[in-house]
Amino acid sequence: MKFFVDTANIKEIKEANKLGLLAGVTTNPSLVAKEGVSFHDRLREITAEVSGSVSAEVISEDAEGMISEGKELAAIAPNITVKVPMTLEGLKAVKAFSDLNIKTNVTLVFNANQALLAARAGATYVSPFLGRLDDIGQNGMDLVATIAEIFDRHDIKTEIIAASIRHPMHVTEAALNGAHIATIPFKVLQQLVKHPLTDQGIEKFLSDWNQQK
Ligand code: E4P
Repeated sequence: MKFFVDTANIKEIKEANKLGLLAGVTTNPSLVAKEGVSFHDRLREITAEVSGSVSAEVISEDAEGMISEGKELAAIAPNITVKVPMTLEGLKAVKAFSDLNIKTNVTLVFNANQALLAARAGATYVSPFLGRLDDIGQNGMDLVATIAEIFDRHDIKTEIIAASIRHPMHVTEAALNGAHIATIPFKVLQQLVKHPLTDQGIEKFLSDWNQQK
């Protein structure tokens, strides 16, 4: 499983990229709005920093609008992936982007049929939102496992991005259940590194080292 970072904050993206394991970035309108910057300018900054896929979401609700927005986004850099909501109009747009060789990430996926439809329309990625399913008392991880099994059984190449990740256990379980990618808030990425025994071990090694005669 690969790691994307789920943020539009350029400082966080740069920090995450220094770790040498960052395979991409996902943004969404809420994350961009928090930044208070021009969307296109921020995408230019992100794509200059990260060579992997950078998801940029359209806000139109009709296919025609999505296609024209998506074309503009895709013109910013070759590694832009157009993020499209899981709707009937979104599926039409995904097909059009696929014909134009523009990569797509179908977002707001909450059941397996949505993922299958998106894949068959030509989506490069599908993003099941684990945390938001957990929030309403459903098991987000079961959805990842089901999509992974269906894609495997039908030899579907669309990649599964485990999204709406809230904590480190989501990451481990996403990997176990067949997600190709987890897109992770920067805070969770930092949490993944930490273990109290690692910290204690470092402290002990240093104090032993400093006490040597
Ligand atoms: C993924 O592409 C989304 O931007 C993101 O994971 C949504 O997460 P949230 O449910 O924490 O807003």
